[in-house]
Amino acid sequence: MRVLFVASELFPYVKTGGLGDVMAALPRAMRALGADVRILVPAYPAILNAVLVQGEVGYLPDIMGGGPAHILKAEADGLPLYLLDQPGHFNRKGLPYDYSEDLPRRFAALSFAAAHLGRVGDSEGWRPEVLHGHDWPTGLMPAYVAFGGGPRPATVMTIHNIAFQGRFSRTILPDLWLPPQAYTQEGVEYHGDIGFLKAGLRLADRISTVSPTYAKEIQHFGGHGLEGLLAHRSKDLRGILNGVDKTIWNPATDPHIQSRYDLRHPSRRPANRTDFQRRLGLQEDPAAPLFVSVGRLDPLKGLDLVLDNVDHLVHRGGQLVLIGSGDPHAEGAFRQAAQRHPGRVAVFIGYDEVLAHRAFAAADVVLVPSRQEPCGLTQLYAQVYGALPLVRRTGGLADTVVGATAETLANGTATGFMFDAASGWALGEALNSAFDLFADPAGWRQVQRQGMKADFSWAGPAQAYLDLYATIPPKGH
Ligand code: ADP
Ligand code: GLC
Repeated sequence: MRVLFVASELFPYVKTGGLGDVMAALPRAMRALGADVRILVPAYPAILNAVLVQGEVGYLPDIMGGGPAHILKAEADGLPLYLLDQPGHFNRKGLPYDYSEDLPRRFAALSFAAAHLGRVGDSEGWRPEVLHGHDWPTGLMPAYVAFGGGPRPATVMTIHNIAFQGRFSRTILPDLWLPPQAYTQEGVEYHGDIGFLKAGLRLADRISTVSPTYAKEIQHFGGHGLEGLLAHRSKDLRGILNGVDKTIWNPATDPHIQSRYDLRHPSRRPANRTDFQRRLGLQEDPAAPLFVSVGRLDPLKGLDLVLDNVDHLVHRGGQLVLIGSGDPHAEGAFRQAAQRHPGRVAVFIGYDEVLAHRAFAAADVVLVPSRQEPCGLTQLYAQVYGALPLVRRTGGLADTVVGATAETLANGTATGFMFDAASGWALGEALNSAFDLFADPAGWRQVQRQGMKADFSWAGPAQAYLDLYATIPPKGH
């Protein structure tokens, strides 16, 4: 099975969130199952300068006014890459998502190049049977396949986050190299505008999203306006959970942490906590449960609920570290909280991959209070690293954490803490449960071990994607 992934991010070169991690891990897991999965990404300078380019395998004199476009073949640690090398669109700072005027054209060009590869293949004769796009930047890819003529590969769209839809004025339609007949409800039209993600969800043969619960939510109340379309396509929609890449996220081998450990050597873990507390200017207090949050400061991540609880958390004897950036109000409020509680609350505003690894190895609790969370990776990394996730019951958080209750504690299945209402009060109650369990070291260790034992391997999800492709009837080419 020949599959071309198409995406705007790829760890470790370009990553703003979980999409980058998934794009690095999932194709490799599918290749391990025997599928010939490759990935097309823009030739951002950060990628071009880092990978081994093997040569040019395609050329288009122009795509959407961005000038000559070279399709380069490259390799990154065994993963075959196609790079869309179109300097007019992709050779500058601030990418991937700087909201400049050519944003829609840039990603339309990526989608166009993908459809081109699906139609004619590369110059070495490799042609994908499945084109698999991820998130709104690749939403027009199924439209270029549908309206482009020629052989039609199967198309699949995966929703990593439906809150970002790529909606633009209809006035740019001619710039996108789409024919006027594409502008219908069955095509790219979206409430009088053009909807990139909407087009992909309307036209792709199959749709997936990154957890079973989110797959249900987006058909009913959490689809940001696309509920009806998704309910209509529910037969073609699957929820497939993300996994954890154990070559990157593994406390037994992690080069970024102070002291490596595993289930059999838990006593080596606390050194990471002391190291982290020291680095962040926190008191080295072993009695204080350490709460950590790593992620984008976006209203959907629910960090305002944490802000409501900072004083409570400190008064109960806890410590808090926030690593993230985004909404300036939230950044300011967390900075103020740190000033109010020196030695107990620390804030790192920015993006730091190494610090994130250290945080998971140090934390007692990882907070993920999201209002919506398609899958979420930090609650998975928390469990792998022996931190207890404290999450809201939504999306992938509901599917990957077993909240502590009298019953789950008694039968040994609990892996973390879970609350329901998106309110500061409900989060506060979950924090109280965490403090109570922390006072019972044996009970805490049991929950910690259960999380560390959980299987978040990519092998199962990789097979589920291959199974999804197998449900698409052949196109007769
Ligand atoms: P999302 O994709 O919605 O941002 P996920 O939980 O799926 O959420 O993935 C977030 C990824 O980005 C994780 O790998 C997390 O460690 C990383 N991350 C987010 N913010 C930061 C940051 N400020 N510094 C380092 N890593 C971060
Ligand atoms: C998105 C979602 C996140 C998910 C990630 C990878 O950015 O917000 O929940 O884990 O994509 O699929």
